[in-house]
Amino acid sequence: MCQSTAFVCAILAALFAVASSNNCKTLQIQANGALINGTYTIQNSDGQSYKIYCQFYDGYGYTFLSTSTNVNVDMSSLYDDKSHVIIRHKRSSGVQYTSTMAQLGTFSSNPVSVQYSGHSGYQGPQNTAMAPYIFVGFIPQSLNRKDDLQGWKVNGEDLTFNNCDGNPNSYIAFFFNPSGQGYTDNVGGHNKLMYQWYDGASAVAQSEYLPDEFFANYHEVHQGGCGGYSRGSNVPTGGAVGMKFSDVRMRSSGGGRGRANDIPGNLYRSHLDVFVCLRISTHGWRSLSYLQRKWRLVRLNTRMRK
Ligand SMILES: *[C@@H]1O[C@H](CO)[C@@H](O)[C@H](O)[C@H]1NC(C)=O
Repeated sequence: MCQSTAFVCAILAALFAVASSNNCKTLQIQANGALINGTYTIQNSDGQSYKIYCQFYDGYGYTFLSTSTNVNVDMSSLYDDKSHVIIRHKRSSGVQYTSTMAQLGTFSSNPVSVQYSGHSGYQGPQNTAMAPYIFVGFIPQSLNRKDDLQGWKVNGEDLTFNNCDGNPNSYIAFFFNPSGQGYTDNVGGHNKLMYQWYDGASAVAQSEYLPDEFFANYHEVHQGGCGGYSRGSNVPTGGAVGMKFSDVRMRSSGGGRGRANDIPGNLYRSHLDVFVCLRISTHGWRSLSYLQRKWRLVRLNTRMRK
């Protein structure tokens, strides 16, 4: 009897470890809202490690992917809010800047798509020899029309061009370039449509700086069909893409500890975890502090339900 309980608990613990710690959101939920902004190591579904930076606000946050990443990454596990991305960049002065990029008003019902070394549904980038890369797609190929007004919304402002020939490019991409390739193709124009994410960005407080390993030194911007194509040597900068996740509460803010991560999935997981693992505790598999932590969770969750 004791042994089979231990066995079940070990299996469940292993399952939870894999299923619930593979992104910023689940890490924060597991910690019951106590995690601070920082670099965390997580694993893909093959158990290979890679690093992310988690920036937590009360209720939401952003995930950045380290440029040291060279394993498969399931991007869809890193973000669930596709309304916009953040483009963080770092200039040679060392100062970091931030911009928000979203769909143009007329395309706002479509998600902004962030992909890892891929461009499903979109025309892809040209400098693929610099893979891995992060691809941020805006107007998908299926919605592209010749002579349409296209573009994107940068820091709240619609920036448009007329797609003269229906060429369906609509992306910005950042390349990790681990093998040190040079750029192919020519530098295009530096105009507002192409570079407002750079020229119109706001400086970030030093306390919010991302570590260097999150900045990719090569980028490519492409719009149309007569919008523009540019690779990055006219903008000597590192860039990073912030992907938004939602529904995460921080312990230190809002209505106090009881509000931390009060979402149904988390309640369910905490209870199940506790009931199975309490059994095993009598056999000394779990430390006292682990049990105390879990017990606090149960009490909190019970209070919240009332
Ligand atoms: C994370 O950084 C943001 C921006 O500086 C800040 O508003 C927030 O309070 C920080 N959160 C934590 C948990 O450190």
